[in-house]
Amino acid sequence: MSSNLEALVQDAAQQFAEAADPASLENAKARFLGKSGALTALLKGLASLSADDKRAEGARINQAKVQIENLLTERRQAMADERLQARLAQETIDVTLPGRGRGVGGVHPVIRTWQRVEEIFRSIGFDVADGPEIETDWFNFSALNNPENHPARSMQDTFYVDMKDSGGLPLVLRTHTSPMQVRHARTHQPPIKVIAPGRTYRVDSDATHSPMFHQVEGLWIDEHISFAHLKGVYTNFLRCFFETDDLVVRFRPSFFPFTEPSAEIDMMFTSGPNRGRWLEISGSGQVHPTVVANFGLDPERYIGFAFGSGLERLTMLRYGVDDLRQFYEGDLRFLRQFNQRL
Ligand code: PHE
Repeated sequence: MSSNLEALVQDAAQQFAEAADPASLENAKARFLGKSGALTALLKGLASLSADDKRAEGARINQAKVQIENLLTERRQAMADERLQARLAQETIDVTLPGRGRGVGGVHPVIRTWQRVEEIFRSIGFDVADGPEIETDWFNFSALNNPENHPARSMQDTFYVDMKDSGGLPLVLRTHTSPMQVRHARTHQPPIKVIAPGRTYRVDSDATHSPMFHQVEGLWIDEHISFAHLKGVYTNFLRCFFETDDLVVRFRPSFFPFTEPSAEIDMMFTSGPNRGRWLEISGSGQVHPTVVANFGLDPERYIGFAFGSGLERLTMLRYGVDDLRQFYEGDLRFLRQFNQRL
């Protein structure tokens, strides 16, 4: 290789080394390998040489070109390495920092009540049933001995499904869980011992009512299930649920079309901050013979009780919540109190 070419290679090595960033390196490359670069000019100069000289000189120029290309590749690589090292030095990860964590959901207080209610009733041999929230008029009202003109069917209380959407079948958002008595009893043989927790809907909204709320239905049907069983089961349930024996229960005469006799169940704590005040907690009664017949059972033979309790109400009493709407506002400051991890 002529000293001329050697000098050119040296020059390229120096310029590449001096290039401080990728842009200057590419500029330096252009000065040697580009269209109007030094090597290109030399190759053009070959035209004036004889064939032998052309071959010999051409080989030398190509050798120099390969050397310069290698130098360029090395320098590019070195530059990329430097950049990576700089980034690694700068972006250190502090593995001792606590993790950011993921937002873990929590169990809603009303659902917690739902779960506890299931647990308690399962422990005394009740099944747990589930059914549709969009219910037929028949299951929600008629089968429960609720006459056509009963005010519970009126437009103020009930969400009706537009007949256009139901194909002409009268459908409602169930106003209580009592239709589950009929659904379950028609598909099971006595002894029937079941609870059915779930969502219910009424056109109603204030501090103690929400258009969507939860109930748990209870039903025990056999050959001689009496009010005494209801009293025992329900009192036991309340004592388990509130984790205290310091409460008393009373049955106050009431009316429901699907029970006869009917009673409101009231309870009173005999110790603690809420003691001494009767609290209404549940509807109940002995299942009406017409309803037993609608179960597909002989009312002369089968008898029993039903109750329907509000899960929000139980939750409010257990935790001292005074406005039911708080359950459905999604305010984390409220919900966090029931879930440390939220
Ligand atoms: N379904 C009634 C209500 O929603 C409660 C109830 C259930 C009463 C079962 C008696 C028996 O008010």
